[in-house]
Amino acid sequence: MKLLVTGCAGFIGSNFVLQMRDTNPDVTLINVDLLTYAGNLENLKALEGDEGHVFVRADVADRAAMDAIFSEHKPDGVIHFAAESHVDRSILDASPFVHNNVMGTQVLLDLARQHGVSRYLQVSTDEVYGSLGSTGLFTESTSIAPNSPYAASKAAADMLVRAAGHTHGMDVVITRCSNNYGPLQFPEKLIPLMIANALEGKELPVYGDGMQIRDWLHVSDHNTAIWRVFEKGRAGEVYNIGGNNEWPNIDVVKLILATLGLDESLIRYVKDRPGHDRRYAIDASKIRDELGWEPARRFEEALPETIQWYRENRDWWERVRSGAYRDYYDSQYAARLSAD
Ligand code: NAD
Ligand code: TYD
Repeated sequence: MKLLVTGCAGFIGSNFVLQMRDTNPDVTLINVDLLTYAGNLENLKALEGDEGHVFVRADVADRAAMDAIFSEHKPDGVIHFAAESHVDRSILDASPFVHNNVMGTQVLLDLARQHGVSRYLQVSTDEVYGSLGSTGLFTESTSIAPNSPYAASKAAADMLVRAAGHTHGMDVVITRCSNNYGPLQFPEKLIPLMIANALEGKELPVYGDGMQIRDWLHVSDHNTAIWRVFEKGRAGEVYNIGGNNEWPNIDVVKLILATLGLDESLIRYVKDRPGHDRRYAIDASKIRDELGWEPARRFEEALPETIQWYRENRDWWERVRSGAYRDYYDSQYAARLSAD
């Protein structure tokens, strides 16, 4: 089987690709990524020389480039991770979110249909449901009510996926996961940013009162769930993915400091994010009851392990922060591209 994976050089996509090469070596991966600021090909370094995958640099919204990839590689399935993924960036400028997340999804859907792909999986987010009060959980039938431009672009993409299934009879599935953590996450998101700042002795910027709640899931659990849905989910369905693991931001920040043996003097409360969603929490009973998926990792052991990873891989996040990781692509691919 051949699987087209978009966003393979990002945080979750790269973890998926590495996990799949381990657990499903019979699946050939056609890995596509535009290598935006968030795409780092170093994340896939372990696959050098592995003939079970190819990497192609392309914009998923570029119809001609993507058509050529479908024609050449003839994938049987598509798993679409690629997206602009950071809420704060979407507040500064929503345009790349519309291009990459909305147009990119429609182009992929059109090509998947034209090329007879048998299943298309859209990697979405719980943020499409908006914000919860102090009680209740998001279920798959919670109304779509996105609050940030990022969430709105993901919700728009989900609606296009739904329409492709309904109108064109495509076999589509959508997953909506809560916040992920783990190695190789770009240090602009809460957990890696706080770890990196703490390790550098910089202030830890906590938005507002720090009492916003997120439901944290280890990236490897997210990817196990995605593959389960791809293999066994019912066509046309949405599956929520979550770890039943709610934490106020300030408690996560304090836990990171305590794990690093640092006091709390680095915490700095800063102006709140505009439109900041107060609470996300997932009801994952559908994927558990229908597909038998449950998270394998517990926050209490996987967060310290993640912190340790950032401690041991300082070089990785320092290169990301300085922009030096971009040189890797140039050194790996410049010669190959100019030979084309
Ligand atoms: P990320 O920002 O780390 O990676 C995104 C990747 O997509 C990058 O490698 C980037 O280069 C690539 N990309 C962006 N636009 C592209 C385009 N037009 N063409 C090709 N490649 C492009 O994001 P992530 O955290 O790995 O998120 C992956 C997916 O999971 C996204 O769809 C996101 O909405 C979803 N998601 C993320 C979380 C989370 O906590 N991070 C939770 C739920 C869902
Ligand atoms: P983030 O990792 O950006 O994910 P999302 O907004 O998609 O949930 O942020 C997680 C939470 O942490 C969110 O409530 C915003 C908050 N936050 C801070 O308090 N300080 C920060 O510097 C960042 C990046 C996030």
